[in-house]
Amino acid sequence: MSTVRRVGVLTGGGDAPGLNAVLRAVVRACTVGHGVTVVGISDGFTGLVEMRARELDLDDVSGLLVRGGTILGTTNRGNPFRYAFRRPDGVEEIVDASDTAKKNVEKLGLDCLIVIGGDGSLSIGERFWRELGVPVVGVPKTIDNDLFATDYTFGFATAVQSATTALDCLHTTAESHHRVMLLEVMGRQAGWIALHAGLAGGGDVVLIPEIPFRFEPLIAKFRARERRGRPFSLVVVAEGAAPAGGAQVFAGEDAVTGWKRLGGCSYAIAREIEARGGYEVRATVLGHIQRGGSPVPSDRILATRFGIEAARLAVGGCFGSMVAISGDEIVAVPLADAIGRLKRVDPQSQLVRAARAIGVVFGDEDVEQAASSEG
Ligand code: F6P
Repeated sequence: MSTVRRVGVLTGGGDAPGLNAVLRAVVRACTVGHGVTVVGISDGFTGLVEMRARELDLDDVSGLLVRGGTILGTTNRGNPFRYAFRRPDGVEEIVDASDTAKKNVEKLGLDCLIVIGGDGSLSIGERFWRELGVPVVGVPKTIDNDLFATDYTFGFATAVQSATTALDCLHTTAESHHRVMLLEVMGRQAGWIALHAGLAGGGDVVLIPEIPFRFEPLIAKFRARERRGRPFSLVVVAEGAAPAGGAQVFAGEDAVTGWKRLGGCSYAIAREIEARGGYEVRATVLGHIQRGGSPVPSDRILATRFGIEAARLAVGGCFGSMVAISGDEIVAVPLADAIGRLKRVDPQSQLVRAARAIGVVFGDEDVEQAASSEG
């Protein structure tokens, strides 16, 4: 018989389509399935330090499957171990507020905290469990799909859908103007969104951070397409892609974590293709469209399955664990296995080989190979 009566839940980090579907599943599984009360903590870990919480019932989560974002206030990258405290004189000081957060877990009467987040939030959750003894269960979330210990994260399929729709649009205008069209997609240090969207949307070239590229094979590919009567090309560029020996392009810095934010590399790549190949080139940065809107059905289903399993692990006292998908099975893995390292695209993987087999160029080929990719 479980002693768990009250479970807290928070969403941390950047949003991902499907967050609300997880919340819905957690509340439904906890209340209907286990007779356990759910307390939603607003505004991520910051809301836990500042004690913003309310009980969630079935009505609170009704109609949530289709809603992007999170109903739990804002989702942010706040970290109780490095909490920005504003002193009465207005000066901001970085302090360790993890003890306050722990006390608030106790004040709220929580027997377990479900943390829905990416590497940053799950790392905080893991420290809560390991260092402070706060019972935590993790749910992996990121559109980038770069979290270790799970095959997929929810939000990824929706991001790929948005990127693929954008490619479908770029295809017709590229064809009409005989242009080289670049689509820059998100993904940080992993090329999952670019690779999947490139395959789904018929990208001729896919540039990912895991495979440094050269311009020569790209130009060879465009020339080969011209010879075949296709004087236009689609290039999918992951925001973390960089030429061999070159640097990644950053757009700014995250205000809270100080992480450097990638973005904008496609503009420089476009200029270089123009200069080297004499093509008319246009670059589109898809940006946060990939993170917004309604989750696609597969993300709704994955999020729901994650939420149900997180509730089961919480009620069952399986703390320090994270839900994950392995093949088609929802499983539990140690939180510690998921954090601090990235799941990146393996350049030798079957998926990359499949793309090459249908003529997709990654920019690491020699010129003859790239030219022969059009037959
Ligand atoms: O990790 C998700 C992600 O969307 C990345 O793909 C992207 O680099 C980053 O977050 C953007 O961060 P922000 O929302 O702070 O602009």
